[in-house]
Amino acid sequence: MSELSVDHLLGIKYLKPTDIQLIFETADHFKEVINRPIKKVPSLRDITIANLFFENSTRTRLSFELAEKRLSADVINFSAASSSVKKGETLIDTVNNILSMKVDMVVMRHPNPGAGVFLSKHVDARIVNAGDGAHEHPTQALLDSYSIRERLGGVEGKKVVIVGDILHSRVALSNIFALKMQGAEVMVCGPKTLIPKYIDTLDVKVETDLIKALNWCDVANMLRVQNERMEISYFPSTREYTQQFGLNKKILDNLDKEIIIMHPGPINRGVEITSDVADSENAIILDQVENGVAVRMAVIYLLASKIKR
Ligand code: NCD
Repeated sequence: MSELSVDHLLGIKYLKPTDIQLIFETADHFKEVINRPIKKVPSLRDITIANLFFENSTRTRLSFELAEKRLSADVINFSAASSSVKKGETLIDTVNNILSMKVDMVVMRHPNPGAGVFLSKHVDARIVNAGDGAHEHPTQALLDSYSIRERLGGVEGKKVVIVGDILHSRVALSNIFALKMQGAEVMVCGPKTLIPKYIDTLDVKVETDLIKALNWCDVANMLRVQNERMEISYFPSTREYTQQFGLNKKILDNLDKEIIIMHPGPINRGVEITSDVADSENAIILDQVENGVAVRMAVIYLLASKIKR
């Protein structure tokens, strides 16, 4: 297969296992490119991409922008904080105005779940979801699986635990879809209040004891507590959360086996993970960041090749 089965990347749930395989094989090529002295290819010289960020982001926005520039696309950036959205403009009006400037692809982060799907039905451009509320964050899940594949030689049959705030995490949901699609075993671990009720429908294991979860897994993906999405308290205090679900070096050293530690960033050092763990040999957090650029180059390249001219 040399083509994606989808015209947009709206969520992992819309992909087929062969799409993930194609994205990874394409990313392998781009990873080699970005490690060359000249890190740029002319592939998308005739493509214009708009990065629309209606929600805060550091690494995802920079990673997409770098990926686009390394493919030689023309790039325009928009952030809601400094835009007419604040003056009451609708999403479709904002995007249509931008598309009138002949934009081929839109990378969008938006606080509303389903914003990307909505947009894909109303505007004539390829859409890449860079995070839609607490719903999906497909490129994060792809780069996470790509990083597991790189370190462990594959994803199939691996045991992955996602630890922390599962309820508010788009990273968790996209990872669950992606890992299961590739034949991994998935567990979620966190306080009961931060595990969604619909978890039963996702065919994953649930554990509330961090040590048991870590002794079960090959890979632990430590998530940040998404305080900005909480209107009520889900646990007594940050200190108590850290005592029960924070990963420190002592816990890591006392496990029965060597495990790999991941984190999508931004890290709250000392809350979900201590500095000595984040900076240890077991952590592949910076590999995830590097792989993010290669994986996003692959996604953008493959979607651009489907643009009809
Ligand atoms: C995540 C996000 O924004 O969903 N970060 C990211 O994209 N690198 C996770 C988070 O904010 O905790």
